Amino acid sequence: MAFLSDTLARVKPSPTIMMTNKTLEMKAAGKDVIGLSAGEPDFDTPENIKRAAIAAIEAGKTKYTAVDGIPELKAAICAKLKRDNNLSYEPAQVTVGTGGKQVLYNALVATLNPGDEVIIPAPYWVSYPDMVLLAGGTPVVVEGPLENGFKITPQALEAAITDKTKWLIFNSPSNPTGAGYTRAELKAITDVLMRHPQVHILSDDMYEHLIYDGFEFCTPAEVEPGLYDRTLTVNGVSKAYAMTGWRIGYAAGPKELIGAMRKVQSQSTSNPCSVSQWAAVEALDGTQDFIAPNNELFRKRRDIVVEMLNAVGGITCPVPDGAFYVYPSIAGLIGKTSAGGTLIDTDEAFATALLEETGTAAVFGAAFGLSPNFRISYATSEANLIEACTRIQTFCKGLT
Ligand SMILES: Cc1ncc(COP(=O)(O)O)c(C=O)c1O
Repeated sequence: MAFLSDTLARVKPSPTIMMTNKTLEMKAAGKDVIGLSAGEPDFDTPENIKRAAIAAIEAGKTKYTAVDGIPELKAAICAKLKRDNNLSYEPAQVTVGTGGKQVLYNALVATLNPGDEVIIPAPYWVSYPDMVLLAGGTPVVVEGPLENGFKITPQALEAAITDKTKWLIFNSPSNPTGAGYTRAELKAITDVLMRHPQVHILSDDMYEHLIYDGFEFCTPAEVEPGLYDRTLTVNGVSKAYAMTGWRIGYAAGPKELIGAMRKVQSQSTSNPCSVSQWAAVEALDGTQDFIAPNNELFRKRRDIVVEMLNAVGGITCPVPDGAFYVYPSIAGLIGKTSAGGTLIDTDEAFATALLEETGTAAVFGAAFGLSPNFRISYATSEANLIEACTRIQTFCKGLT
């Protein structure tokens, strides 16, 4: 009898975490490595949020809390959804978990039966397909090609829907491409969904606040109120508030689903960290003033990276609308050989040779379901980005 489960055998470890670990290992061994693989802001958590956490500790708010969040945080989430998204929810429609990651996982575990299909637009965040597999469902990948700005078309979505489709996972702005759906583009997607009442929408709005050049963020339940009853809107404080380590994510949706997700959480982790929850109340209720200057810094970095990568023959790097990633295509480099003798036949070979020969750590596109590409996180200093892009330019020039 096999010791490990068959389900686990279908799942692969997170390639982004793998790449980050490899970078840390190389750094620990004294190698000069620039890590561009981590999906977190390099800014510190704002002072007011840290203070709120310290105050919570000092006030003894260090005990178990309600399984899916303290009332104060649920109230702050309801206020946020009204303020930013014009969505009305009551606390019983809100759940809080240990990061958006747990919230997404709870939703899938709570709803998927064997054979249920989940449509995942590619390029996708690495965890979606594996979470679906872990929860016993079947991922159905729909490609959003570079020519369509890495977005899926309504026709491609329509063609992928079957009687077994339970969810569409929607993520805009996206990890790994930074591509954002305009309101008109999203409306065309929600129009398709209106024709298929068996499909629910899991909208991952994690990068809502990280947007550039006047891009207008929108979310499915807001764009099509007819989908309110079958949409779970997921968000969190990790990215916009530089709180990745605090582990707070949340979602709002139908009461029955929220109750089922609470049941999953009650038998796994129970409540998310009490102190982090109080910090998240301050993040959502407190000043939002640091978001705009942070975005200005991100935009400058994005422009540097896009320009330096597009200067390389064989690389095409579209300009993202949001998040802090670029997802250049290396179609023009496939088939070449690196100065170190590696044949670049896949994007994985490219990323591995880049790391080994230049100490620049990016994540290969196959991890995100669309190749040949690689993902760079520009959530690091301008100096690091310029050095990294210079190394990429030199590496690519050396390809024969
Ligand atoms: C698209 C997307 N969704 C969700 C998450 C999960 O974030 P967290 O669990 O830190 O809230 C991430 C983190 O990288 C992400 O990129």
